[in-house]
Amino acid sequence: MISIRRSIALALLFAAAIGLATPVLAEDKPADAQGDAAKAQAAAAVCAGCHGAEGISPIPTQPNLAGMPSAYLTKELRHFKSGQRDDAIMKGFAATLSDDDMKLLGAYFSAKPAGTIGSKDLKLAKTAERLYRGGDATRGIPACAGCHSPSGAGIAAQYPRIGGQHAEYTLAQLNNFRSGKRGVASKDDPNANGKMMATIASRLTDAEVKALAEYTAALKAN
Ligand code: HEC
Ligand code: HEC
Repeated sequence: MISIRRSIALALLFAAAIGLATPVLAEDKPADAQGDAAKAQAAAAVCAGCHGAEGISPIPTQPNLAGMPSAYLTKELRHFKSGQRDDAIMKGFAATLSDDDMKLLGAYFSAKPAGTIGSKDLKLAKTAERLYRGGDATRGIPACAGCHSPSGAGIAAQYPRIGGQHAEYTLAQLNNFRSGKRGVASKDDPNANGKMMATIASRLTDAEVKALAEYTAALKAN
């Protein structure tokens, strides 16, 4: 098995090779985290209907937010607002949020304990294990574990948690990256981190994305 340190090094090399600056950005911190806790909780009430009060969504097409990197959540909210990430529902909600609200909400859901959804098809999930852990060098696919960590917990500020996420949501996102609906760089954000995922996803087959979505849902969050 490829060592984790080696797969992280390979993944970062991959990021460099497709022309992105170091993808790990500094974590955004809300200005006054303590004083703003009540504000965050009030703002999060609007989100609870779809993402769950604890950031664990009851509906599989809506993502869990619990335990995601805070800066990642904030960035996605900015991208929904600007339209860089194209989703009609989230555009509406993000439109009402200030940048400070986005930081508060990112920190709020990030601090919640991550969930474990589990897979409905463990046999299919198993077929993706090699690809997740080792990638496929012959097709230029780096190991998912290199950026999202072996447990799927994500790494640092910009690599989202994908372990324990709903398979339906993950599958939809992988297909959005493949079709170019998500991950296209823009004037706002020429180094959009999603570009990395779009390149990787474009090299995956239909069968592989289905299996990867089941595999990551089954990963135990930590
Ligand atoms: C009516 C349902 C609904 C509500 C209410 C809602 N969301 Fe969402 N949210 C979604 C859906 C659906 C997606 C997936 C969008 C996509 O496919 O790109 C999403 C995606 C997200 C993502 C991206 C997560 C990821 O893993 O990339 C974030 C962050 C987010 N929502 C935050 C919020 C916050 C904060 C609120 C409250 C201010 C909120 N949402 C309210 C439905 C909702
Ligand atoms: C070189 C680093 C890197 C590698 C390797 C990588 N990813 Fe990603 N992935 C990212 C980044 C960065 C994002 C966040 C994109 C954004 O900001 O929109 C992401 C986002 C995702 C998302 C969306 C998560 C969400 O909550 O919306 C999924 C699903 C995903 N990756 C799956 C995979 C799978 C499966 C593999 C292996 C085939 C993989 N990734 C390999 C860097 C990587």
